[in-house]
Amino acid sequence: ARKIIIDTDPGQDDAVAILLALASPEEIEVLGITAVAGNVPLPLTARNARIVCELARRRDVPVFAGCAAPLKRPLVTAEHVHGKTGLDGPVLPEPAMPLQDAHAVDFIVDTVRGLPEGEVTLCPLGPLTNVAMALRKAPDIAGRLREIVLMGGAYFEVGNITPAAEFNIYVDPEAAEIVFRSGVPLTAMPLDVTHKALVTRPRNEAFRALGTPVGVAVAEMTDFFERFDREKYGSAGAPLHDPCVTAFLIRPELFSGRHINVEIETQSDLTRGMTVADWWGVTDRAPNATFMGDVDADGFFALLTERLARL
Ligand code: BDR
Ligand code: CA
Repeated sequence: ARKIIIDTDPGQDDAVAILLALASPEEIEVLGITAVAGNVPLPLTARNARIVCELARRRDVPVFAGCAAPLKRPLVTAEHVHGKTGLDGPVLPEPAMPLQDAHAVDFIVDTVRGLPEGEVTLCPLGPLTNVAMALRKAPDIAGRLREIVLMGGAYFEVGNITPAAEFNIYVDPEAAEIVFRSGVPLTAMPLDVTHKALVTRPRNEAFRALGTPVGVAVAEMTDFFERFDREKYGSAGAPLHDPCVTAFLIRPELFSGRHINVEIETQSDLTRGMTVADWWGVTDRAPNATFMGDVDADGFFALLTERLARL
């Protein structure tokens, strides 16, 4: 199984991404979960990560709190999408499992240094603050990581927090720039992919029909997401962004994209956080990321439903 650290700001879709990973021990070993400020402030994302572990009956997964604010900017949150708690929808108990004492950034650095080179994959599902801090504090880990597979960015598809930018990159563009320039092999799931992974009514019903606490909770999470997104985008269902990352680790053939150059806009107020993706190869800038563009959505939801049934 591939060893991963999930860096996350749960978030209903983050929660589903974590559940998918925990349901797939043959392919994925979750070494730990690191919380970052994003959709909601850090105390809530650190709480929500533990709620999700407990929902999966996995109190053994260590959860660490990381950075409470972006590198250089005040935090921007997304309660308008995820609700006050970040995990609105299902009514789940407050977590009983403790947060680990160590800082998330130290956990990332120590874990990557402590395992053989090329073993650890980082899976960022929120703003890239913790990951950038780890790379800045310990530049040697860049050469030791197997890969970073993240949710973030947009190119043909326009932004979701501003007309130009996707939320995770927008919140901490300086951190994103560090990550995209780190030289670590990078795979990104931009909105172009995640806006094809839509929770339609029948897909939502399939979660509920599992009849398990996990199935019902995921149905309620995606119900909540749905109420907000349908009004906003008028699409066939809410996009399930972050689970694209963990699904890719299990069934990479569900996704397709291009290895291209991607630069992050950090200067302009108008386009801050934009992922400037050279999809057509019109510059001579070296490719630094595989940007996914398409997903087999039916295959993705079949995988997700089948795996959630195992919890
Ligand atoms: C990303 O932003 C968050 O709201 C979601 O959890 C996802 O990671 C989508 O832009
Ligand atoms: Ca997220």
